[in-house]
Amino acid sequence: MSTFRTLYSLFVLVMVGIWAKNAEGLGVNWGTQASHRLPPKVVVQMLKDNGITKVKLFDADASTMSALAGSNIEVMVAIPNDQLETMNDYDRAKSWVKKNVTVYMFNGGVNIKYVAVGNEPFLASYNNSFINTTFPALRNIQNALNDAGWGDSIKATVPLNADVYFSPESNPVPSAGRFREDISGQMTQIVQFLNQNNAPFTVNIYPFLSLYLNAHFPFDYAFFDGVSNPIVDNGTPYINVFDANFDTLVSALKALGYGNMNILVGEVGWPTEGDINANVGLANRFYRGLLPRLAANKGTPLRPGYIEVYLFGLLDEDQKSIAPGNFERHWGIFRYDGQPKFPMDLSGQLQDKYLVGAQNVQYLPNKWCQFNPEAKDLSKLADNINYACTFSDCTALGYGSSCNGLDVNANASYAFNMYFQVQNQDEMSCNFQGLARMTEQNISQGTCNFTIQIKTSYSVKLLPMAGIYFSATILLLLVSIIV
Ligand SMILES: *[C@@H]1O[C@H](CO)[C@@H](O)[C@H](O)[C@H]1NC(C)=O
Ligand SMILES: *[C@@H]1O[C@H](CO)[C@@H](O)[C@H](O)[C@H]1NC(C)=O
Ligand SMILES: *[C@@H]1O[C@H](CO)[C@@H](O)[C@H](O)[C@H]1NC(C)=O
Ligand SMILES: *[C@@H]1O[C@H](CO)[C@@H](O)[C@H](O)[C@H]1NC(C)=O
Ligand SMILES: *[C@@H]1O[C@H](CO)[C@@H](O)[C@H](O)[C@H]1NC(C)=O
Ligand SMILES: *[C@@H]1O[C@H](CO)[C@@H](O)[C@H](O)[C@H]1NC(C)=O
Repeated sequence: MSTFRTLYSLFVLVMVGIWAKNAEGLGVNWGTQASHRLPPKVVVQMLKDNGITKVKLFDADASTMSALAGSNIEVMVAIPNDQLETMNDYDRAKSWVKKNVTVYMFNGGVNIKYVAVGNEPFLASYNNSFINTTFPALRNIQNALNDAGWGDSIKATVPLNADVYFSPESNPVPSAGRFREDISGQMTQIVQFLNQNNAPFTVNIYPFLSLYLNAHFPFDYAFFDGVSNPIVDNGTPYINVFDANFDTLVSALKALGYGNMNILVGEVGWPTEGDINANVGLANRFYRGLLPRLAANKGTPLRPGYIEVYLFGLLDEDQKSIAPGNFERHWGIFRYDGQPKFPMDLSGQLQDKYLVGAQNVQYLPNKWCQFNPEAKDLSKLADNINYACTFSDCTALGYGSSCNGLDVNANASYAFNMYFQVQNQDEMSCNFQGLARMTEQNISQGTCNFTIQIKTSYSVKLLPMAGIYFSATILLLLVSIIV
């Protein structure tokens, strides 16, 4: 009896041990477009502490790569879109591979698995800028990998946005999936080449964007907990847009004769700020649906089983372009300072626990910059707020965001403080023509955090420069302040 009990407890322990492991092959995207980057070594430790074994990068930055060396974390290293044209020259592709792949291929080096050639280069909003250079770049990079002797273990792929086949307008049933007409020639070449090299198709799938871009999108369909009217396709009910989107791609590949091609999801996630539907509550709901499915290798109706998935993203990035929307800087499962935003269980067991945050993070002192209530001349206030927001991140002020309820003065304080923090609390940066002053009191209000930046040697101050991208949001901010 007691032997049985001991064996039974052992069995339970072993099973719990197995279940507690992260969803097989769960990866994250590690973007670095932040004014203050956590040291790469700190980030790698975070990945390890949370059992994350795969990471997708957006470049081949040497400090990132060195931090990953010896970790055994699988890496997708990347070539940004602006280098695609250069990679059309085979010699340049060869030297890219030599400098950014081969150099790390030693015992204790970096476990490189993929090279991402471009990032969503066929996005409709890029106006075909990369239409003719993407495929030749892919071909040259894979051929250079093959020539260097790494072709069997390292595959080149092109992370594509689902808009290459999926659009709110067409909104077809999954089985009707086809690639977009304007790029069908390129897609055919790419798919054939990937197949020849046994490389995966990489797609980024964003249920949040389906909802954001389409006012008539059925809300619950963005999540995984059921809808009242599933979309029925040849008798198969679809209860979430993730499955429908993925299977639309399966059908598009099938139509080209490659219905069995390996597909990996390069990005999937939910933002926590910057839109009425971008918040911690909905992000939590999304991941609580997604993660158990991944852990159970549920797959989709057309592709049951394991799918390789990279969450987007690891950290908030305060210098990303907000052309897609204010939410763009808030996709992190961790805040800018590497602290978790909400409970998340990567093993898919829905335990109410937080991920392990970044360790030993150094912050700047507890100093804030605020609107000076004694300021007399307010005629320059709008200009100064605009300036502050152009060179820092004011997206939390927008409609539906955590700082939207502030009054006029607090709005100004928020903008001034964000700028002051980006400038590493340089005293000169808290003046704003006499409209601002420093304080050592925490001026956070309600849901709105007036944050203190981190202290790091990886900080890039956005320098005021001519011709900086002037966003519609900043214009709106300006207008609303003036009115
Ligand atoms: C290697 O990658 C880095 C970072 O992405 C890039 O700046 C550099 O140009 C690449 N090296 C070569 C030889 O292409
Ligand atoms: C694409 O074209 C539109 C309309 O002509 C323009 O507003 C936009 O700036 C262009 N985008 C890029 C990335 O060139
Ligand atoms: C791509 O190639 C086509 C056909 O040669 C050409 O018409 C088009 O202008 C090219 N596009 C770009 C952005 O270079
Ligand atoms: C400031 O106050 C907010 C709200 O109480 C809190 O979340 C935040 O941690 C505080 N910041 C600092 C640096 O103490
Ligand atoms: C504000 O900061 C605190 C930690 O200091 C965090 O718990 C809270 O979630 C933050 N709120 C927002 C809206 O980011
Ligand atoms: C504060 O700024 C936000 C973002 O521009 C705006 O929506 C809001 O109306 C402003 N609040 C006040 C009281 O001016």
